[in-house]
Amino acid sequence: MDPTLLALRWAHVLAAIVAVGGLVFARFGLLPALKDLDVETRDGIHDRIRRVWLPWVIGAITLLLASGLANFLLFNARVRNEGWGGGDWMRHTGYHSLFGAKFLLALVAFYFASALVGRGASTQWVRNDRAKWLTVTIGLSLAVVLLSGWMRQLHTGPNLMAAGDGGVLIENMTGGAGRRDGGPDADGQEGQEADRSAPAEDREAPAAAGSGEETAR
Ligand code: HEM
Repeated sequence: MDPTLLALRWAHVLAAIVAVGGLVFARFGLLPALKDLDVETRDGIHDRIRRVWLPWVIGAITLLLASGLANFLLFNARVRNEGWGGGDWMRHTGYHSLFGAKFLLALVAFYFASALVGRGASTQWVRNDRAKWLTVTIGLSLAVVLLSGWMRQLHTGPNLMAAGDGGVLIENMTGGAGRRDGGPDADGQEGQEADRSAPAEDREAPAAAGSGEETAR
């Protein structure tokens, strides 16, 4: 288990929870609760919220950008260094395109998330219709999360981490031995991520692994 990757993953997921959770609460909890108040009271509340919530939004965006970029660069280096799919893995799976789409959508979501808690005149149009732009930002975030899951699914599967590495070895869960040598499977998906750093002779799929059995070693 790589502690840096684990820390990046924790940071990324926690920041995403804070950012997207705040948006959902604002849209479906706060706005309906403030609906019947007079404009002056409502604006006062929004201003107080802005002051306390702004650092959280900036912190979450910074963490998402830093951990996301680091994760992407480390993953690219790994794919290149280990020669996944004979160097063709990124093109074969469309990972870069998915990342590009995710990155652009995330930047637009960041713009709206900041504008919603900002106070600049140039972004006032966003705060003039909070319900609409909150809904749009939640939609963008949802698309980002779906793309993230897709990207992750391209190179992960059942946990094959060796027991000595703190995990339980699950052999042959689908009944067929998935490739564990870094090359794409027939369906374009990867074999198991966790075993790729093992020496080549250890990365061969077991010849007669029991089907559907959990094997701890
Ligand atoms: C609205 C903002 C964002 C949200 C909600 C979000 C959410 C997520 C989630 C839920 C995952 C899956 C985490 C896991 O299963 O461990 C993920 C992975 C990832 N994210 Fe983000 N993210 C956001 C922004 C970004 C940005 C700005 C970048 C790049 C600069 C980025 C790069 C990545 C990368 C490289 C992965 C790993 C994908 C993989 O497993 O191959 N994310 N993100």
